[in-house]
Amino acid sequence: MAVERTLSIVKPDATRRNLTGKINARFEEAGLRIVAQKRVWLSKQQAEQFYDVHRERPFFGELVSFMISGPVVVQVLEGENAVARNREIMGATNPANAAAGTIRKDFAESIEANSVHGSDSLDNAKIEIAYFFAGTEIVG
Ligand code: TYD
Repeated sequence: MAVERTLSIVKPDATRRNLTGKINARFEEAGLRIVAQKRVWLSKQQAEQFYDVHRERPFFGELVSFMISGPVVVQVLEGENAVARNREIMGATNPANAAAGTIRKDFAESIEANSVHGSDSLDNAKIEIAYFFAGTEIVG
């Protein structure tokens, strides 16, 4: 297995409920290291661009409104198999379908307010990390 980096976002429903530390503990307990992190309030344009792949989906407008409804914490997680490992820790998109012990099962409010984002492939991880972080901001 290779050491990878993936982009994670603690979404506005989770920052609002002050859950960043509890969510970060899940990553660290699973062996993922937070090698970059910043709290930001996304602009509409930033959120639209980040979720551009979903632009034609019926939920796009509401997703963007939700993502700009409060601050988020964007992070780079590093570790063995980090992309897939993080997806396991996050759980299914819809918390109703998420496995026991996953972040979304334990914290998410709904399919939209589902507490975390995680890159879904290594290629997307590279694009998403570069969207938020300069190389010098990532300290492994
Ligand atoms: P998606 O990339 O399918 O899921 P994931 O975050 O697990 O990679 O969708 C991106 C986000 O869009 C998802 O986290 C929440 C939102 N979303 C909805 O609000 N409604 C939906 O029906 C879907 C599929 C996603």
